[in-house]
Parts: sequence; C-alpha cells; structure tokens
Amino acid sequence: MSQPTRRILVTSALPYANGPIHIGHLVEYIQTDIWVRFQKMRGHECHYLCADDAHGTPIMLRAEQDGVSPEQLIEQVWQEHRADFTDFLVEFDNYYSTHSPENRHYAELIYRRLNESGHISQRVITQAYDPEKLMFLPDRFIKGECPRCGAADQYGDSCEVCGATYSPTDLKNPRSVVSGATPILKESLHFFFKLGDFEAMLATWIASGSIQTQMANKLNEWFTAGLQEWDISRDAPYWGFEIPDAPGKYFYVWLDAPIGYMASFQNYCDRTGLNFDDFWNPDSSAEVVHFIGKDIAYFHILFWPAMLTGADFRKPTAVHCHGFLTVDGQKMSKSRGTFIKARTYLNHLRPEYLRYYFASKLSDGIDDLDLNFDDFLQRVNSDLVGKVVNIASRCASFITRRFNGQLADSVAEPVLYAEFVVASDSIAQAYEQREFGRAMREIMALADRANQYIDEKKPWALAKQTGAVTEVQAVCSMGLNLFRLLALYLKPVLPGVAAEVEQFLQIPPLCWDDIAKPMRNHVIAEFKPLMQRVEMAQIAAVVEDSKEQSSASEEAVGPLADDPISPTITIEDFAKVDLRIARIVKAEAVAGADKLVRLELDLGGETRQVFAGIKSAYAPEDLPGRLTVMVANLAPRKMRFGVSEGMVLAAGGGGGIYLLSPDSGAEPGMRVK
Ligand code: 2FM
Ligand code: ZN
Repeated sequence: MSQPTRRILVTSALPYANGPIHIGHLVEYIQTDIWVRFQKMRGHECHYLCADDAHGTPIMLRAEQDGVSPEQLIEQVWQEHRADFTDFLVEFDNYYSTHSPENRHYAELIYRRLNESGHISQRVITQAYDPEKLMFLPDRFIKGECPRCGAADQYGDSCEVCGATYSPTDLKNPRSVVSGATPILKESLHFFFKLGDFEAMLATWIASGSIQTQMANKLNEWFTAGLQEWDISRDAPYWGFEIPDAPGKYFYVWLDAPIGYMASFQNYCDRTGLNFDDFWNPDSSAEVVHFIGKDIAYFHILFWPAMLTGADFRKPTAVHCHGFLTVDGQKMSKSRGTFIKARTYLNHLRPEYLRYYFASKLSDGIDDLDLNFDDFLQRVNSDLVGKVVNIASRCASFITRRFNGQLADSVAEPVLYAEFVVASDSIAQAYEQREFGRAMREIMALADRANQYIDEKKPWALAKQTGAVTEVQAVCSMGLNLFRLLALYLKPVLPGVAAEVEQFLQIPPLCWDDIAKPMRNHVIAEFKPLMQRVEMAQIAAVVEDSKEQSSASEEAVGPLADDPISPTITIEDFAKVDLRIARIVKAEAVAGADKLVRLELDLGGETRQVFAGIKSAYAPEDLPGRLTVMVANLAPRKMRFGVSEGMVLAAGGGGGIYLLSPDSGAEPGMRVK
C-alpha cells in the first residue's frame, strides 16, 4: 500500500421493515457495496453497517392489517431483507435493526444530552386526529381536495396536480385513510429539536466539502428559507421508543432511524472487539461515510450532523447522495411489471449483471439512473461476455491442453502489461470518487486492448505452425495475465466472478497490491465458462413475474393495484354528472403552475375556461381542435390563476395522462351518458 491505512465506517440508508427490497433500493446498496469492496481491496480498514428501519406508523398499521405483532412483522422482513442483500452480493459487516436495545440506548442518550444542553423545546400543537381509530394522523394518512387547485384525492402534505404544499388542516373535505372518518383537530404537547441552534456549525460543515455541490446548493436554499424547529415526538399509539420522562410520547421514527447507524455499529463492536468511541468521539480520526438517496438529504445533512454535534459526537465525514431509478424512462410501475423486487430478479438473472449495469451508469452526481432493458442486455453481453470473459476463453484451452496448465516463465509484452498497470491509478481514483461509470469505461478500453493483442498474435494460427510452441504459450500466458488484471479491476463490481477467476487461475483473493505481480511459471486450473449471455426471454420473465406477483397477492391487477375502485354509487348519483363533448379552442401554459394548462372549451355555443393538470403529457400547442369530454355542471372553482368552470376527463394515475376523445361524428355540446 502506498497510502496509509484509513479507518472507515460506511452506511447505506436503513430500509423500512414493511416491504420488500426492490431494484430501486439496490442502486444505493450496490453503489455502497462497490465502494466498500474497493476500500477493502486497497487494504483499508472499512466497516459496512446497515439495519432495518423498524419503527413508525406505517409499520404499526401494516402489522395490524396482517394480524401479527409489529415484532413478528419486523423479524420476518429482516430475514427477507438479509437474504435479498446476501444474494445480490451486498456484503454488510453487520445488518441490524433500529428496534434494538442498542438503539434505544443511543436514542435516549442523544435526546438527554440535547435536552440538557437546551436544544429541545416543548409546545402544544393542533393536529388532525382520527376520532374512530383514536390516533393522530400523519400527513400521508389524510386525503382530501387540494386547497389551491381543488384536485380530489390529494395527500395531506402536497398536491400532485398543482404542486402546492400545505398542512393537512388546509385540505378540503379531508378523510382519514385509516378509517375513512373525518379527522377532527386535537391539541397535544410535542417536543422539538431546535435545529436553528446549529446553523453556523452546519454552514462550516458544508463548506468543508462533506457533501456534493448540488446538495450544498440545495442546503443554501434551506438556509435561506430558515431552519425550522423539528417535531421529534409522536403520541401513543405509536410503534417506537417512548421518550424518557414523557409517558405516552414517542420518538418520531426519523429521530431514531439514523441513530440506528450507531446502534448497528455498537452491536458489531460487541461482536468483534472494535472500540465504538474510536469512530464516534468528536476528535475521532476515523471516517464516517453515509450513502443515501437525495430524497432523504434533509434528514442527513441537517438534522443528523446537528443532533450528533449537540450530543457531543463527531459529524459525518461525508454524505453521498444519489438519484432515483427509472425503468425505460418511467417511474417503476406495478402494472407495467417494472416494479421489480430483488427476489423476482434473482429468480431469473445473475446479480452481477445488474451490479455491472448500475456501475456502468453511476457517477458522483444526483441525477436519476435509467434501467433500459435493451441497453442492459447489450452492455452485459458485449462488455462482460463479449470482451472480458472472451479473453480467458480464447487463451485458456491452449494452456490447458498443450502445456498442462503451465503458464510461461516471463511476461511476453512488458510494455503492454505496464500500460495495464499504469491505468490502475486512474481506475482507483474513479472508484474512490464514485465515478464508477468512468472506471467501467476505462476497464473496457483495456479489455479491448487485450482482445486486440490476441487478434494480432492469433494463437489459434500459431498453434498450427511448427516451431511456434513457445510463442503460443507466451501469447496465451500474456492474455491470461491481462485477464487477471481486468478481473482485479472489476472485483468490487463482480465479486462472484472474481472468486471464480481466482479459482480458475489458482491464485489467492485478489487485492489492489497484486497488480504488479504477474503470474509466471504458474499452473492454472481448467477453464469453465464464467458467465452466460443474458437472453431477452430472461428479462421478459422478470417483467412478467413482476406483473404476476401483483395479481397473485391480494392486490388487484394492473392500475387497480395502485388505485382501487371507489365505493359503489347509484344510477341517480351518476345522473347528476352532466358530461358533454367539448372542443378545445385554445390551450396555453399557466405561469407559476408546473402541471396546469388553461383550456378554452367550446360546448356548442357556450365557451368555458378549464384548468387541467395535463401539462406533463400534452404540449398546449397540440391541443386546439381536439374533441374531448368535460364535466359541464361542476361548480366553478376559484383558483390562483382564475376560475375553472368544469373539468376535462383523462385517464391516469400510474404512468401518464391520457385525455379522452369521442369517436368521430360526435359534436361539441352532445351529452355523454
Ligand atoms: O427513507 C427511508 O427508507 C428510511 N427508512 C431511511 C432511513 S435512513 C437512516 F436515517 F436511518
Ligand atoms: Zn392542487
């Protein structure tokens, strides 16, 4: 090792213990696992910790729905999560749970220290309460009409149509998602963490380069908006830890979730003899590095460093954010079969295909990453099978059959070998900076170079020439030495393949220091195919099974899975809705509303103005002239941008918005029934 050994504690976000791991989650776990494996190969002391995030209202309600205790639910999910990660070759040093004695200890300790230092305040707040279920309702458990644009069926915190954010008490006609009851308002004493006390510290921490520039910019926006006190308590009934000296009050799940990183580490220390304080004391020289999705940055780059500082622990060295996964350019969807669970993928495909594909597309940025199935198939087959594995299969059989597996006693092309060695610095730098796509490109360029060498030397032709025996051995040994370097460089991404290569080449586990040590006079084992091509049929089977799973479970098929059919109405109820054919005569974007288009509709003599949330699917200039269907007797709604005098009908919910059109012959003003 040229560099001194670093001590690094690495975490990925803790997945909630109420659902399966899916390929969206795996972007993060694969990214982190690659980085950790790279650090370990470099000889650093690196510990990779994770746990299930086991508290909160959704887990409490899910257990109740399943007829099990929360403890039973989280135990079962923990087993499933562990198996999924293991089979994806995500190798945690410890995988724990936030519902653990260690986590209770650190949550209480941190809270007490914050409280003693004056960073906790208390006040009575008014919140939505379900009078049937006798519980306070989190924002996501209340639905109603958007207070700004009137759109129906919106959550209590934000409107998916006009993008407004608000508090649940602002919703019109609110209802509890748990019982259907109309929430009432109820007062309760809450505990708050005074985030504002840490503004100066956070500014310095950010300036020290602990987060990506894009996130630092985001953070500056939050600073400008002002750092609000954070509500860290929830009332019973709640599934979590009770707050010390506050009966009936519980820590909000997000308070004890990141503390779960410490709890998992403590549990690991108890098992291994490592010293907790070496990593968490304020003056620790070890690194603490978190990998998270950009959606939970607020918790990790504001609350978490502030909590740690206030409780006299060290701050994270770095918080690395990544974007979300889309599949074929769209959000993962159950009805399209692109909401792919880890297990469904594993039933048909080798984990390393996906590990390589994600690696080839990952950078240190926060942009979303798209899984395109054609591209996936092409990259895996052409890079891994066509380029890398091909080198071994082109050289191995000559060595086995003609030389009893014995490699030549010298490196035939020292200059070429040196080219491969020199590349290691740049590849290592790319891994270190999480520029995995760049690392993969550099490695594939080397694979091209190795194949080019074999093409030039043509061992298959040499083998037929008399007097060229030594050269055949020299060329094939050279090819296998280059192959060994490629396997070494790819090992953080393809640990299973690397293990098979080590077995085939009869070498100890490859680490970074082995680069400059080519195999000479060495005997290898017989070559067995290391990787098969991906077939489109396997991908189709994954998609098909992902669709089947939603029908086989209690969920409905297709779009109904995400949006069940509403309660039955009578024909009289329906007759109250006056649906008419309308012609769009004018359509324009609405300044200040991302999703809205202002439509002027001709109803056959009468013109109406309607604001429709269809901008993501239709360019306004494409709409004039089209016939559609509108609700003509909807009470006019006053919106920020003007009065909306009805509603146009469109299909939607899952992947897109589709305006309804009548068959030809229909005229504006005709009734639809
Ligand atoms: O967003 C989530 O899935 C959370 N369970 C992540 C928690 S990360 C950490 F803070 F525990
Ligand atoms: Zn709205």
